[in-house]
Amino acid sequence: MKKVLLAIVVVLVVIQFFQIDKTNPTFDENQDFLKIYNPPAEVASILKASCYDCHSNQTVYPWYSYVQPAGWFLKDHIDEGREELNFSTFGSYEAKKQAHKLEESYELVEKGAMPLESYLIIHKDASLTDSQKTTLVDYFKKVETQIKTSNNLPADEPKHQEKED
Ligand code: HEC
Repeated sequence: MKKVLLAIVVVLVVIQFFQIDKTNPTFDENQDFLKIYNPPAEVASILKASCYDCHSNQTVYPWYSYVQPAGWFLKDHIDEGREELNFSTFGSYEAKKQAHKLEESYELVEKGAMPLESYLIIHKDASLTDSQKTTLVDYFKKVETQIKTSNNLPADEPKHQEKED
């Protein structure tokens, strides 16, 4: 038993040497969502507190990112999050993709699926009150419409209809 415990301690110590890369990728500030759409201060602060750690190149790494394996999980979420949606490079997306990402964003916020639940356990300040959700959802919808109108995109994405027979 003692040997098993010792082995666990050794593993925990050794994995601490495998720290994650915390360098934020560089990006063109003029392509950043906040810069382009210049949302009201409240929306900007919600985005920064609740989404930007995983969906931008402006991640603020928390203390537990230094503790493995927690840091590894976080890093995975950040890599995946940035790949799906990166607000820092938002301006480089085509209009159609921008509108689509905003649509997905408000759907996920409405559902309570974003920010990720595991993240909220520690980042209590990132969880959204109902009124913050409404503020964010309304704002995303407004910008989505604005993008679609100015780019002559159809107002609503064709939905996949289920066959009725
Ligand atoms: C802890 C990291 C984290 C935070 C914080 C976070 N996300 Fe995510 N997000 C992810 C990950 C990981 C994925 C991809 C896997 C998945 O869908 O669960 C994702 C997926 C998404 C997608 C889906 C993109 C696609 O094309 O399918 C959208 C949209 C999104 N997030 C929006 C948001 C918004 C808006 C916020 C803030 C309210 C937010 N996320 C906060 C990690 C995060």
